[in-house]
Amino acid sequence: MSVAVIAGDGIGQEVVPVGIACVDAALAREGERIEWVDLPWGSDHYHRTGRMMPLDGLETLARHDAVFLGAVGMPDIPDTETLWGLLIPIRREFDQYVNLRPVKALAGVPSPVRGGDAIDVVIVRENTEGEYSEIGGRAFRHRDRESAIQVDLFTRYGIQRVARYAARLAASRGGTLTSATKSNGIIHTMPFWDEVVGEVVAEHEELRLDSVLIDALAARLVLRPASLDVVVASNLFGDILSDLAGAVAGSIGLAPSANLNPERAHPSLFEPVHGSAPDIAGQGVANPVGQIWTGAMMLEHLGFAAAATALQEAFEAVTADGVRTRDLGGTASTEEVGAAVVARLER
Ligand code: NAD
Ligand code: IPM
Ligand code: MN
Repeated sequence: MSVAVIAGDGIGQEVVPVGIACVDAALAREGERIEWVDLPWGSDHYHRTGRMMPLDGLETLARHDAVFLGAVGMPDIPDTETLWGLLIPIRREFDQYVNLRPVKALAGVPSPVRGGDAIDVVIVRENTEGEYSEIGGRAFRHRDRESAIQVDLFTRYGIQRVARYAARLAASRGGTLTSATKSNGIIHTMPFWDEVVGEVVAEHEELRLDSVLIDALAARLVLRPASLDVVVASNLFGDILSDLAGAVAGSIGLAPSANLNPERAHPSLFEPVHGSAPDIAGQGVANPVGQIWTGAMMLEHLGFAAAATALQEAFEAVTADGVRTRDLGGTASTEEVGAAVVARLER
């Protein structure tokens, strides 16, 4: 197995080495190993070459079994350059249509909201279309009539495939699929989303569909997080819900994500939910748990189930033991958390 590594920008440079050390320790327990291929792409590469990755970057990634990424984006480069120059092309080129974002409260981690320590949800975010379509731009470029247009593009194919994935997952968990919607007649796309999600859920007799308006769903995630299990959402709704869910569990620094091409025709991309956090970069205080958890998801996807379970148990135990970074009220550094997880795996 060969995994391409893009640590990228900001705290990506700090949490990715920790994530790799933890994955290696989990694999070593099982007598397994993977090959890591470091790709120095991101904002520094942009400053040197004018591009976030080389012209043949996607071809390079296609030769690997997975991509392990930290984050991209820095204040001195427009986000349009950093995101459309690296992250979004990877998701699109490799048709990673499921962005899987589990959020589960960890033992000992306080939630900022009442009942938040019972959260255990999986957000299944559509990852290739919707509100993130490439259609749009500035228009009427004269005087005060300048405007911007964004077309939301939803296809039956696109909704169907992500809904099918979410429905199977919900059937294997609590049996209820919550769909994030906005179908009260205001926007045209969401009644279509509801129709296709409804058809897919009807294929599963045992499954109950709960369609909830996105505004009310955001409030419910804060007020009654334990009432949610698997949530299927469009690209933008899923993006917003996943930071919110991470915060409810204690910190967005905990939240992992997998950009999956479930059919495995292409490599999948594993990265934490959070960004490059320029406000804390370079201080050694970033929470590496989101990156470590992301590593466990990658191990699971690549077929190293025992190593994935061992890694999951190890970081949960270390967090429960009180080895926590500042965002969780602790004093441990990024590297100390990583070292504690590795030590536990080596026991
Ligand atoms: P962010 O997620 O980087 O940070 C938001 C807040 O959460 C900050 O206060 C930060 O310090 C804190 N935080 C984030 N991760 C943390 C961690 N692991 N431990 C402790 N605290 C953590 O979001 P932002 O500030 O809105 O974005 C910064 C840059 O990152 C932007 O350029 C944005 O486009 C980019 N971004 C990239 C990705 C990605 O590469 N996948 C994801 C989100 C944002
Ligand atoms: C995420 C990020 C990205 C997204 C940005 C950086 C384009 O916020 O992965 O959640 O919106 O998909
Ligand atoms: Mn996001």
